[in-house]
Amino acid sequence: MLSPSAQPAILSPLPPCGRSLVFQRRSGVDSRTAVSQLARSFDVAWGALGIGAALAVSLDRPIKGLRPFLAVDTPAGLIPSNQGDLWIFLRGPDRATIFDRSAQLGAILEHAFFLADSIDTFSYRGRDLTGYIDGTENPKGKKRNAAALVGPGALAASSFVVVQRWAHDFAAFNRHTPAERDDMIGRRKETNEELSEAPASAHVKRSAQESFDPEAFMYRRSMPWSEGGAHGLEFIAYGRSLDAFDQIMRRMSGQEDGIVDALFTFSKPITGGYYWCPPVNGGRLDLAALGL
Ligand code: HEM
Repeated sequence: MLSPSAQPAILSPLPPCGRSLVFQRRSGVDSRTAVSQLARSFDVAWGALGIGAALAVSLDRPIKGLRPFLAVDTPAGLIPSNQGDLWIFLRGPDRATIFDRSAQLGAILEHAFFLADSIDTFSYRGRDLTGYIDGTENPKGKKRNAAALVGPGALAASSFVVVQRWAHDFAAFNRHTPAERDDMIGRRKETNEELSEAPASAHVKRSAQESFDPEAFMYRRSMPWSEGGAHGLEFIAYGRSLDAFDQIMRRMSGQEDGIVDALFTFSKPITGGYYWCPPVNGGRLDLAALGL
């Protein structure tokens, strides 16, 4: 018997183009049939797929460690939620491929789910749209797998993901000098050097993974978006649990010590969802944990 492995899209390099999609169940639909059809038809080469807590509960199989993303009022402002039943991240070399995959996916899902949210993403030379390299401190090799995937046990090789869209205010960002911007991120834009003297509000000071107890490592796979004059980052981070994100977001948003991450001076979260990404077995999603 094959042992479960991770969805390939979780660990693959970022694609040139992506689309982040949130679906909700249609009312009166039998979740069991809809989700088993989806598992049979979803090609894991298309991208990553995550299940929301309410969908798992509707199948009488809550997933240990999966909870809905709840909106919270913080010193940094409102952290909103757009929790869905399903999150699918399509990946592709170009927009044409994403278009074709969306159409195939739509045909599979339309009877049971409706599209609640969608954004096209793209790689911006490995950087956030502010120009700063994103992903430098991602764990690598075995540490990456240990951070991103659930270890041996009932949910082995599955993963939890947080998806949170941030909208940037470039006018606010550009009012600062380059040196002030480097201090807000905590790295030098030109060299990517980490600034040890950066203020406590610098993003990399707030989010330093090894500074948490327990350490809060996650595997970030965020991608920029730009649509209708608005721009930002589709923050996507995989974890063996959702705890690392919770710990870091608490500190970033000032809930821990009142110091708000400088990111919030030019960007704000506008969506938020938690999902469980089932493992793969024999090239198909393995939904044994959902009783399917
Ligand atoms: C506007 C949204 C965001 C932008 C533009 C952004 C950008 C960056 C940049 C440029 C870095 C430094 C390079 C690197 O290590 O990747 C970084 C690091 C990091 N970010 Fe973010 N980030 C955003 C949101 C978040 C959120 C919401 C979280 C988690 C709650 C987060 C967690 C981290 C972590 C864990 C690191 C590495 C810290 C370390 O251990 O040194 N980021 N981010």
